[in-house]
Amino acid sequence: MSVVAVVPAAGSGQRLGAGEPKAFVTVGGTPMLVRAVDGLLRSGAVDHVVVAAPAELVESARRLLPGRPVTVVAGGADRTASVLCALGALHDGGDPNGVHTGDERSGTRRGDAPEVVLVHDAARPLTPPALVAAVVAAVRAGHRAVVPVLPVADTVKRVDAVGRVVETVDRTVLRAVQTPQGFTPELLLRAHRAAAARGAAATDDAGLVEAIGEPVHTVPGDATAFKITTAWDHRIAENLLQDNDN
Ligand code: C5P
Repeated sequence: MSVVAVVPAAGSGQRLGAGEPKAFVTVGGTPMLVRAVDGLLRSGAVDHVVVAAPAELVESARRLLPGRPVTVVAGGADRTASVLCALGALHDGGDPNGVHTGDERSGTRRGDAPEVVLVHDAARPLTPPALVAAVVAAVRAGHRAVVPVLPVADTVKRVDAVGRVVETVDRTVLRAVQTPQGFTPELLLRAHRAAAARGAAATDDAGLVEAIGEPVHTVPGDATAFKITTAWDHRIAENLLQDNDN
């Protein structure tokens, strides 16, 4: 049974300020989207990737990813909507296990039943393939929702509307959450449908699973799976790649 990865890549990249949608911005000369997709495929644990790109850049995204088992669809207004758009490409005629790629050029087998669905941000282009494989392995081992996490290094405080400190949160019980996150297709679809019915969005998919009362398992994350949000993050990624080349 196959593993399908959904890659939300339809963000505007406003906080990065690069003048183009973030997934298309290069890191080490290669668009983040291409690095993210290739990292997933290099893990050897992913059979097919569905990318949610900005509607006007669907064709451009396809052109960036020739020869790979990839389907590109138009994303939505926020990350949750983009993931749901990509899940729509998996979802065939009401059967949540039926894969419909919508892109015959991809060579993917229609009707293939994924055992695991990953959701992975295009904005995490340096994610090590070993982390991808670890998340898939945890789902295969029986955890229906899996997230990679790291301990929180900074002291974290809750503040009120005017920025006054309300409390210091015990950081020993906090974790910073990364992607790829792994799910059984049934659980992920159920969580997204419930969120759509509530009109709710979340910054990650595990949050939607939590919202329907289902358990989420954690595995150790990796510092290099950090998300590129600001120009500072982008610079760190460029520097890390330069260090690797030297
Ligand atoms: O904005 P943020 O960095 O949290 O976005 C995380 C991921 O979600 C990025 O890969 C971004 O392209 C994607 N996204 C999306 N559709 C949106 C907004 C964000 O696919 N409408």
